[in-house]
Amino acid sequence: MDALGLFGFEETASLLGVSASDSRKLFSLAKAEGFKGEAGSVWVVHPADKRPAPRILVAGLGKKKEYSLEILRRACGSLARRSAAITLKELGIQIPRVGTFSAFDEARAAAEGALLASYKFLKHKSKSDEKPSTLASLFVISGSGGTLKETSRAVDRASLICDSVTFVRDWVNEPPSLKAPMVLAKLAQSIAKNGIRANVFEEADLKRMGMGGILGVGRGSLEPPVLIHLSYHSPQARRTIALVGKGITFDSGGLSLKPAESMETMKMDMAGGISVIGIFRALAKLKPKVNVEGYIPSSENMPGGRAYKPGDILKTYNGKTIEVLNTDAEGRVVLADALAYAAKKKPDAIIDMATLTGAVIVALGEQITGVMGNNEDLISEVKSAFERSGEKCWQLPLPKEYKEQIKSRVADVKNIGNRREAGSIVGGLFLQEFVNDVPWIHLDIAGTAWTDKDLAYSSAGGTGCPVRSIIEFLEKV
Ligand code: BES
Ligand code: ZN
Ligand code: ZN
Repeated sequence: MDALGLFGFEETASLLGVSASDSRKLFSLAKAEGFKGEAGSVWVVHPADKRPAPRILVAGLGKKKEYSLEILRRACGSLARRSAAITLKELGIQIPRVGTFSAFDEARAAAEGALLASYKFLKHKSKSDEKPSTLASLFVISGSGGTLKETSRAVDRASLICDSVTFVRDWVNEPPSLKAPMVLAKLAQSIAKNGIRANVFEEADLKRMGMGGILGVGRGSLEPPVLIHLSYHSPQARRTIALVGKGITFDSGGLSLKPAESMETMKMDMAGGISVIGIFRALAKLKPKVNVEGYIPSSENMPGGRAYKPGDILKTYNGKTIEVLNTDAEGRVVLADALAYAAKKKPDAIIDMATLTGAVIVALGEQITGVMGNNEDLISEVKSAFERSGEKCWQLPLPKEYKEQIKSRVADVKNIGNRREAGSIVGGLFLQEFVNDVPWIHLDIAGTAWTDKDLAYSSAGGTGCPVRSIIEFLEKV
C-alpha cells in the first residue's frame, strides 16, 4: 500500500490502532512537522524505514471527549482529499477503535467520509488535464475487535449508501436543460426493478385527477409536468412511509421572475425529488422491513405566454383552492397535489423534502435542515436519524397563530404570507393544509441540498442531503 492513514487526539502523544513502537515513532515524526491533533488537520510524514508504509497521513481527531462518528467521517474526508491532492492512488485507513462505538460503525463512518469527500462532478469537462486526481482504491483496515467479515460488511454498506448520495449529487449538478421532468420520469422508470415499481402520471392523467397545482406551475414551460410514483413493499413491513420530493427542474420564479443572480443555482430545485429516487435505489438493495411510497411532482417553473399568473386560483387534488400571489412560491403549489394524493392513501407517515424557502438559509444556514411537522414522536425519530448520519437539522414550530398569514380573501389559502416574516414556517403551514392529519414531517433542504463552498466531505454543488438520514430512518422503522 502506498500510504496509510492514522489518527491521533489532541491530548495524547500517540497514534491509534498501531503497535506502541510504531505509534511512538510516527507520532514524533508528525509532531516535528507540526501535528497537534486538531480535528480536520492532516500531516504527511515519510518514515525512513518505509514502515508500516512509505507515506503516513496523520489525521487529527480533536479532543477525545468530543469524539464522534461524525468527527471520524470528517477526518477520513480530509485524508481522502489530501491523498488526492498529493496524487496518491491508494490509501489504507486504520480504524482507530475508540470509545463505545462498534468496529462496524467506525469502519462504516470512515468509508463514508472518504468516499463522499472523493466525489467530483467532472462529466462536462472536456480536457482531461483539468480533471483533478481522485483516489483509485481505498482500504479500510479493521482495528482490534473488528473482524474482517464485519469490516467488509461495513464498507459494503457505506459504498451502497454513498452510491445513492453520488447519484443524487450528479443529478442535482446536472444542467437544467438536460433534466426536464420527463427525464426524471424516465430515470425513475429505469430504477423500477428488484422490487421497485414506478408509475408516471403525465399531463393528461394529471388533468383527469384534478391536479391543478402541478398543472398550473407547469403551464409556462414547454416541458410537460409529471407526477412520479415509486413504490417498494416488504412482506415483513409494519409501517408504510410516504416520501414526497419537490422536483422543480428549474425555478426561474415564473412571472414573479427571480433576479439573475438568484437563478444561478436554481437547477438544484429538484433536489428533494431526486433524493426520493436516490433513496429508492438504495431500498432495492437494502430491502428494509417497511413499505415506502415515493411521490415526485416535477415541473419547470417558467414565465411565458401560457404561464400561471399572480392572482390565478388553482384547484388542487383534494379540492382546496390556492390563490397564487407569487409564482416563485411554486414548490408548495406542486407539493399540495402530491401531499394530498399521498395522504389520501393513509400511510403511517409522510415525509416531504423540498428546497422550499430562501428563508431557511437565513435562519439556519447551509448546514442545517429545517424540520417541521405535526407529530412530535415522528419528529424525534427523524431527528435521531439525522444525528446518526451526521447530517444536521433543527426543528421550527408550526404555530396556529401564523395560519392567518395564508388566509386568502378569494380562495381557501394563498401561497405567500407577510413579506419577511417567518418565511419557512409559513411554507410549512401551507403544506400542512394538504396532509389531512396524517403524521407528517416537512424537511426544508433549501440550504442543505446545495453548498457554494467545499464542506468536510461535500464539494461545492449538490450535497445529497437528506438521503443518508432518510435511509437511516427507514432502516429503523
Ligand atoms: N426554490 C426556491 C427556494 C430556494 C431559494 C431554494 C434559495 C434554494 C435557494 C423557492 O421556490 C422560492 O423561490 N421560494 C420563495 C418563496 C417566497 C416567494 C414566498 C423564496 O424563498 O423567496
Ligand atoms: Zn420559487
Ligand atoms: Zn423553487
